[in-house]
Amino acid sequence: MAENLVIFYSRTGTTRQAAEMLGSRLGWRVVELRDAVSRAGWWGDLRCVLDNRLGRKVGYRYDGPPLDTCGSVVVMAPVWVEHLAAPMRSFLQDQSSYKGPLAAIAVMAARGGFRAAEEVATAMGRPPHPAMVLLQQQVTTGEAKADLDEFARILQRDPRAGDAAPRSAWLSPNEA
Ligand SMILES: Cc1cc2nc3c(=O)[nH]c(=O)nc-3n(C[C@H](O)[C@H](O)[C@H](O)COP(=O)(O)O)c2cc1C
Repeated sequence: MAENLVIFYSRTGTTRQAAEMLGSRLGWRVVELRDAVSRAGWWGDLRCVLDNRLGRKVGYRYDGPPLDTCGSVVVMAPVWVEHLAAPMRSFLQDQSSYKGPLAAIAVMAARGGFRAAEEVATAMGRPPHPAMVLLQQQVTTGEAKADLDEFARILQRDPRAGDAAPRSAWLSPNEA
């Protein structure tokens, strides 16, 4: 049977924490998308900003199976300067031939998460379903667990989940 995956990119650990919570709730394999070149330090910060502002295609390392061979996929990434983090955007652009069930979660400090989820739709040519935005604070305090449980419940029970739904099902929070 085709494998279901949670694929995440995380620079400072917040999205990783949420991905591990979701993966464990779903019982799905969790795979990390990594930077080809470290983004540590002030130079790393600057590269995050420039890569996103300029919409650059960036290098990444991915050791998981090609999405074409997978069952359902959830992608998770942080928001950088109100856009989807460049490594995940670049990865999705390369995997746009995947037509299976796709869901997405963006993690942010305060704003830009909804646009980031729209960028998943742009890269893949269809909206992820369900799609959810989490606040960093909700993840670090553990408050996000309830939202992740609900997300998992939709994925496992909603027959439309992951299909090309007419529009994304946006789940919390209300963006400032
Ligand atoms: C360069 C950079 C730009 C960011 N821009 C935004 C932003 O526009 N909106 C926002 O809410 N958070 C922004 N953040 C905060 C991250 O989205 C937030 O800290 C997230 O939890 C980081 O996830 P991670 O720990 O998985 O890397 C930015 C962080 C960085 C490093």
